[in-house]
Amino acid sequence: MQNDIQEVLITEEELQQKIKELGRTLSEEYAGRTPLVICVLKGAFIFMADLVKAITVPVEMDFMAVSSYGASTKSSGVVKIIKDLDVSVEGRDILIVEDIIDSGLTLSYLIELLRNRNAASINVVTLFDKPSGRTVNLEARYTGFVLPDEFVVGYGLDYAERYRNLPYVGVLKPEIYSN
Ligand code: XMP
Ligand code: MG
Repeated sequence: MQNDIQEVLITEEELQQKIKELGRTLSEEYAGRTPLVICVLKGAFIFMADLVKAITVPVEMDFMAVSSYGASTKSSGVVKIIKDLDVSVEGRDILIVEDIIDSGLTLSYLIELLRNRNAASINVVTLFDKPSGRTVNLEARYTGFVLPDEFVVGYGLDYAERYRNLPYVGVLKPEIYSN
């Protein structure tokens, strides 16, 4: 698996340090409240696990699975709900935890959905942002790292469901895509 990586973009140490910082900031933002933290599966599951451990206020958690990519590396623009939330968001302070924002289509769809379900507030924390890929006007309130317009894997992010378990984020060797 390590042999398939051409370049490490963000190391495990850099990831862990940034997530601790985000946790501190979010603990201040949500002081006195109990946000409902929503993990967007599958890519955000490792980020979610580390982030909630760095948050010191009480939180509730739920998980949602959406798909817009299949095995391709480009967004189809069609967002499908694979698994919906278990709990109601009505009147709740929502923190959406995303792995990466590229076109912004997935997130703008989710935000609209949660607004229509009458959430009290909606914030987004994304670990990675690729602003050059944006096709809709959208910005996360909190961003870990800004990335160049390259397809990345690791720390939850996959190519064809593999590489999610790498503890760092990197770029695959080009020959992997042609296999
Ligand atoms: P959009 O374009 O809707 O995309 O903002 C967000 C979702 O697309 C996936 N995505 C990636 N997945 N490496 C990945 O493994 C990448 O470089 C990448 N860029 C986008 C991801 O699932 C994200 O939630
Ligand atoms: Mg994916």
